[in-house]
Parts: sequence; structure tokens; C-alpha cells
Amino acid sequence: MAKSGKRSRAKQRPRTRHPALTVAALGLLGLGAAVAGFAFWRSPPPESDTEAMIALGRQVYEANCAACHGVNLEGQPNWRQRRADGTLPAPPHDAAGHTWHHPDQQLFAVTKYGVAALAGPGYKSDMPGFGTTLSDAEIRAVLEYIKSTWPEEIRRRQAQATLRARTQGGG
Ligand code: HEC
Repeated sequence: MAKSGKRSRAKQRPRTRHPALTVAALGLLGLGAAVAGFAFWRSPPPESDTEAMIALGRQVYEANCAACHGVNLEGQPNWRQRRADGTLPAPPHDAAGHTWHHPDQQLFAVTKYGVAALAGPGYKSDMPGFGTTLSDAEIRAVLEYIKSTWPEEIRRRQAQATLRARTQGGG
């Protein structure tokens, strides 16, 4: 009695489990196909373009900017205080600094031409222009990397400043 009861339970188990497993497997297959199909349809998806740009920007930053602006974008100590020679220390590029107060057009110009070239004769600045060492795409990438570290609210406000500058013909 006990034996046959065991056997029948053993027989029943696969019958009840099997459909559930099949449904799960089909579901996974379907999901996989959907993901693959989506990736193919959207290739290359815009998100990965941005990610690649940020990855490049990070490299550009570490090689060209981190020495002054800090590995963690923290800037130099007492960055608001002019030195005896009239120059300013490098400001932070994180949310504590004022990089995000400037529209894209200005950030691009500062990075490409340097502060002294834009501020005019007589202004001494340590911020060099990178127009001869970095391509425009690399400059855009490094700025995109800097922006990627900002909180959403800061990004939104900086994007608004960029839009305002564009509609006012400010660059
Ligand atoms: C030799 C040091 C040095 C290096 C290297 C350097 N900077 Fe700067 N940067 C400065 C200093 C100093 C200032 C502030 C200049 C001033 O106002 O006179 C500054 C200012 C800036 C500003 C303006 C920020 C603001 O809030 O007004 C931007 C943008 C900027 N740097 C981007 C970059 C980027 C991007 C790189 C790398 C590609 C870089 N800097 C590399 C020293 C440096």
C-alpha cells in the first residue's frame, strides 16, 4: 500500500511540475528573444552611445584635467581664493563648484580656448586651452563625463541654462 502510494506520487510529480517548467522556460526564451530583437532593432541604442562617450570622457579627464581639478572633481583647496600672483586655484567640477552654472557653449569654449584667451588681455589664469591637444569630440566627451557625475536637479538646471543661452543666441 505504502509502496504504491509512493509510486503514484512520484508519477504525479513530473506531470504537475513539467508544465510549470515549460512555461517558465518559454517565458525566458521569449524574454531573451525580445531583448535580442530590441537590441538588434535599436542598434546601436542611444544609451550605449552616451555610455561610450562618458567612458571616453573619463579617460580624457583623468589624463588632462584631474591633475588640477582633482581625481574626484573636487578641485584645489581654497579654490575661491586668489593667490598672491592673481591666479585662482582650479575649481571643483562636482555639484559644489560652479561649472554647472555655465551653459554648454561656455564650458566648451573655456575648455577649448582656456580662460585667459576668453577673459581678455591682462587676466592671468592657469586654465589652459585644449584646442590643440584635444579634438572637439574629446572636449564634448569630457564635459559629458563631468555632467554624468551631477545629481539630476543640477543637470536639469544646467540644461536650462544651455537652452536659454541658445535661444538668446549666446553661443
Ligand atoms: C593646469 C591646471 C588645469 C588643468 C590641467 C585644467 N584646468 Fe580647468 N581650470 C583651471 C583653473 C585654475 C580654473 C579657474 C580659472 C580662472 O577662473 O582663472 C579652471 C577653470 C575651468 C573651467 C571653468 C569652471 C567655472 O566654473 O567657471 C572649466 C569648464 C574647466 N576648467 C575645464 C577643464 C577641463 C575639461 C580640463 C581638462 C580637459 C581642465 N579644465 C584642465 C586649471 C586647470
